[in-house]
Amino acid sequence: MTSPTRRLEGKVALITGAASGIGECTAKLFAQHGAKVVIVDIQDEPGQAVCETIGSSSSIYVHCNVTDEDDVKNAVDITIATYGKLDIMFCNAGIMDPKKPRITDNEKSDFERVLSVNVTGVFLSMKHAARVMVPIRAGSIISMASMTSNIAGGASHAYCGAKHAVAGLTKNVAVELGQFGIRVNCLSPYAMVTTLTTSFTGREPKDLESALNHLGNLKGETLRADDVANAALFLASDEAKYISGHNLFIDGGFSIVNPSFNMFKYPKDV
Ligand SMILES: NC(=O)c1ccc[n+]([C@@H]2O[C@H](COP(=O)([O-])OP(=O)(O)OC[C@H]3O[C@@H](n4cnc5c(N)ncnc54)[C@H](O)[C@@H]3O)[C@@H](O)[C@H]2O)c1
Repeated sequence: MTSPTRRLEGKVALITGAASGIGECTAKLFAQHGAKVVIVDIQDEPGQAVCETIGSSSSIYVHCNVTDEDDVKNAVDITIATYGKLDIMFCNAGIMDPKKPRITDNEKSDFERVLSVNVTGVFLSMKHAARVMVPIRAGSIISMASMTSNIAGGASHAYCGAKHAVAGLTKNVAVELGQFGIRVNCLSPYAMVTTLTTSFTGREPKDLESALNHLGNLKGETLRADDVANAALFLASDEAKYISGHNLFIDGGFSIVNPSFNMFKYPKDV
């Protein structure tokens, strides 16, 4: 039986975009739970620093731009050469485009850059994970979507379109790889403070956090990268052994309610 404190003992995980934010947090959590972790990013210094924090006996850093197929193939091949297998692929790397609310102001180049990282990068990561997981008939692939995979109006057209695509890709790949015992799922968090969101909004972390708490459905809690890492840990572990094709929302119920159609609002003094 799996130990509750070592839920990934003996497993090998590759995490894209692991030099910061959610990816960094997940890399540290996976290592605490006994996994060997391959940290993949384009930011070499922060990526190496994450690796040093985890310790060189449990992690390696590989420079890899997820939009470049040779880079992704190389990262997976280095994983196999170093640790002998790949059990978990977390396709987490993602970007946002400049904040331009009008479609008429959106540049084709920005649109294509976001799709390239957020969709093509996920596709390539899934493809090269499948290449090494199919022969061993096992594996867990987790991708990073967002609540914008279901709800519109909160992000750019490129970002919202890309995250819808990740949810679709997840389902399609889950159908193909199910016959090989490989599970494929994605995560859809509400917004939280990371470099991605502070850069996009131009707001200070504290100020952004309080605005997000105000807008959120679930009061009294703040969504943090740790919470997303814990959801990734669950999907990566054997506890989720019969879960595939699922889009797990970590949004405190935000995406299931339309505030203009909510009959349950209590007066402020209750
Ligand atoms: N922060 C949020 O509120 C939020 C909410 C929902 C979903 N997400 C998603 O979570 C994921 C992680 O975002 P984050 O908030 O931790 O942001 P972040 O900016 O802290 O981390 C993203 C990481 O991806 C890396 N990256 C970017 N382009 C890359 C590329 N081409 N190849 C390899 N690595 C690349 C960056 O260098 C960075 O280390 C993204 O997919 C994002 O869309 C974030």
